[in-house]
Amino acid sequence: MNSMNHKLKCLAVGWIVVTGCTLRSADQKPELNRDWPTYGGNHAGNRYSPLTQINTGNVKNLQVAWMYDASEQFAGNEPKPSRAMEIQCQPIVIDGILYATTPGLKAFALRAATGEPLWKFDPFTDKQARYRPNRGVMYWADGGDKRILYVAGPHLYALDAKTGKLIDSFGKNGKVDLHDGLETIPNREIKDLAITSTTPGVIYKNTVVMGTTVSEYGDALPGHVRGYDVRTGRIAWTFHTVPQPGEFGYDTWPPEAYKKIGGANSWAGMVLDEKRGVVYLGTGSPSVDFYGGARQGMNLFSDCILALNAETGKMQWYYQTIHHDLWDNDLPCPPNLVRVKHNGKLVDAVAQTTKDGLVYVLDRDTGASLFPVEERPVPTDGVPGEHPWPTQKFPLKPLPFARQVYTEADLPDLTPEARAFAEKRFLETRRGHKYIPPSIEGTLLFGISGGAEWGGNAADPEGILYQNANEMPWDLKMTDIASLTRESASLGNSLYLTNCSPCHGLDRKGSGQEYPSLLNIDKKLPFKEILSVLETGRGRMPSFRHLPEKERTAIVAFLVNKEKETRLVKHEDDHSLSGPPAASEDDFPYVPPYSNNGMKKFKDPQGYPAIKPPWGTLNAIDLNTGEYVWRVPLGEFPELTKKGIPITGTENYGGPIVTAGGLVFIAGTKDERIRAFDKKTGRVVWEYQLPAGGFATPCTYMVNGKQYIVIAAGGAKNGHKPGGNYVAFALPEASAKDKAAPSKPEQSR
Ligand code: HEC
Repeated sequence: MNSMNHKLKCLAVGWIVVTGCTLRSADQKPELNRDWPTYGGNHAGNRYSPLTQINTGNVKNLQVAWMYDASEQFAGNEPKPSRAMEIQCQPIVIDGILYATTPGLKAFALRAATGEPLWKFDPFTDKQARYRPNRGVMYWADGGDKRILYVAGPHLYALDAKTGKLIDSFGKNGKVDLHDGLETIPNREIKDLAITSTTPGVIYKNTVVMGTTVSEYGDALPGHVRGYDVRTGRIAWTFHTVPQPGEFGYDTWPPEAYKKIGGANSWAGMVLDEKRGVVYLGTGSPSVDFYGGARQGMNLFSDCILALNAETGKMQWYYQTIHHDLWDNDLPCPPNLVRVKHNGKLVDAVAQTTKDGLVYVLDRDTGASLFPVEERPVPTDGVPGEHPWPTQKFPLKPLPFARQVYTEADLPDLTPEARAFAEKRFLETRRGHKYIPPSIEGTLLFGISGGAEWGGNAADPEGILYQNANEMPWDLKMTDIASLTRESASLGNSLYLTNCSPCHGLDRKGSGQEYPSLLNIDKKLPFKEILSVLETGRGRMPSFRHLPEKERTAIVAFLVNKEKETRLVKHEDDHSLSGPPAASEDDFPYVPPYSNNGMKKFKDPQGYPAIKPPWGTLNAIDLNTGEYVWRVPLGEFPELTKKGIPITGTENYGGPIVTAGGLVFIAGTKDERIRAFDKKTGRVVWEYQLPAGGFATPCTYMVNGKQYIVIAAGGAKNGHKPGGNYVAFALPEASAKDKAAPSKPEQSR
């Protein structure tokens, strides 16, 4: 916000926070109020604040200013904590009011200086699934018309920012169904198929630009990017990420692919260049993950960085980072808009990080890479029916921020058991190249859970990118699911193989806490409850409402070993007994002949990543030169540190912010701490043990002359304790007034 805007805002504020506003320009007096007006901090997505009150000199004095418990949905008939999701939301702050969401996806507003609640909106009027998490909300104002827009379940809601009440004139009674405007699918009720949007879009003038989160399997809806009229909720434009007949890129797919291939969706958010009127975003892999036999070709615009006109959806350029993706290498975060010095000239650039650990720095107008990128031949021997693309991109600079290939040198040395375990599997797999197509033998690979992840990156005005990375190997192994289902004795079993095994595994053992084991599930959940999970979906698990009830019941009967119906003889004419494997190629959902055997992180018998550390890092990359300023491990396992093992870093989710106070704030680690790093050196200058995992990106703002840092702490998933707090930090009064306050002993370690 410039001082002019600030002045206007102070005049227009009215009911909110008037104190502290000054009509004098900001350069005469220190500013007293500063917003965090959008997801990502600004339209450029830089998670940057010019605030300096909290700085490297005094950050060690930070204290908890307030906590807001957003988790009351655990009460009464609401889901129990075990079902609650983590909070991934980065709040926005406008005129002293903070807007965010609860673990149960309610939107709320509170006073950003005190945590005092103002309103709360519950999108779920009847018992519904909790769907996917929400990463933030959007704000739009025109005079007195001030709106909060956000997505919960399949709906985009418009709320009055003052009251939290639905704005009736928007969509149907205040909400728009994200299914609306999608093409119909023969014989399928598309409303039964999963669509939501975990990450906010951007608002340019009167257009809300939105991506979506859809399934990654055979039931995936198309991943169109859409512009909506912010006043009415009407669709203003649609960009087909899988082009339709007559559209550019259509010939990079088989002719009918657009009817059954979904995904290629932009789930991770986007950024806006207001001057150019252009949105920049990344797309994900097309369905189905790991097998592309039904989508021979380069597959534009999956895994692309796209520049789209914000008011028309017209594409300005595209840059594909992975051709014909077989590795689930979605672009996992919004890009950053930066200005860098390149060959002596200032260039407006867009920087995109990837799940496989790369940074692309492109000219914002042309999409041309500022650093050299080579297109090199890669292995093409996939499973039968697969057509791997013969080349892939290799950026020469910046160097990758995460390992690219699992080699012998990466075998873990934590314990002899860990090494023996990892070496055995390593020697069975295909190895030696990053782009080995998924195979029956399997490969150990990086990328499925970042590299970069959805928290995105921070960038300061000097063009330094602050990037948190995971180095978690996965064991990807394909199975000939078609022949297994043909041989399978029961309907429930064959439906399980095609629908459930990609996540829960052929052996039903799942993978760690993320993909739970379904063995003995009858001991844990009653029949009805399992059926209800299938109907509504849960967390990362999509709903299976699109399967006929009879098929859902057969799956559950199979899981609890109560299946009466056996299929010793195949009845060609009876669909209920032959199940999906007999379905024709063109049927929907599409059933691939090969499927991955569960989503398996490669962990040692003790549960640590089966690879030498680091397991998580924070990187500072100079986008002007492409060189690293520093790189440090992010997070620790205290029990390993105690044994004298150097800090390993942990898997981390949620991104950093950077401030003019010289600090990078980030949580996201498995040790459930939030830390401040000196942005020049990468040294930890403050850390605080949160009440639950901080799997979100913080924000910072100033109200009445006091700077706050806020982070959501809501663990709940993946073995973390549940929690639904927003925690605000500020300097004690004395330090807030006097930047040179004498340092006090550290209280918060
Ligand atoms: C895309 C991956 C994915 C697919 C496909 C999938 N699940 Fe799940 N499933 C999950 C995840 C993740 C969870 C944990 C959800 C949570 O609690 O947040 C889960 C949870 C469950 C649970 C609850 C387990 C418990 O311990 O509470 C059941 C039951 C279940 N799935 C059954 C199935 C069945 C049956 C199918 C096939 C029809 C299926 N799932 C397909 C990912 C998947």
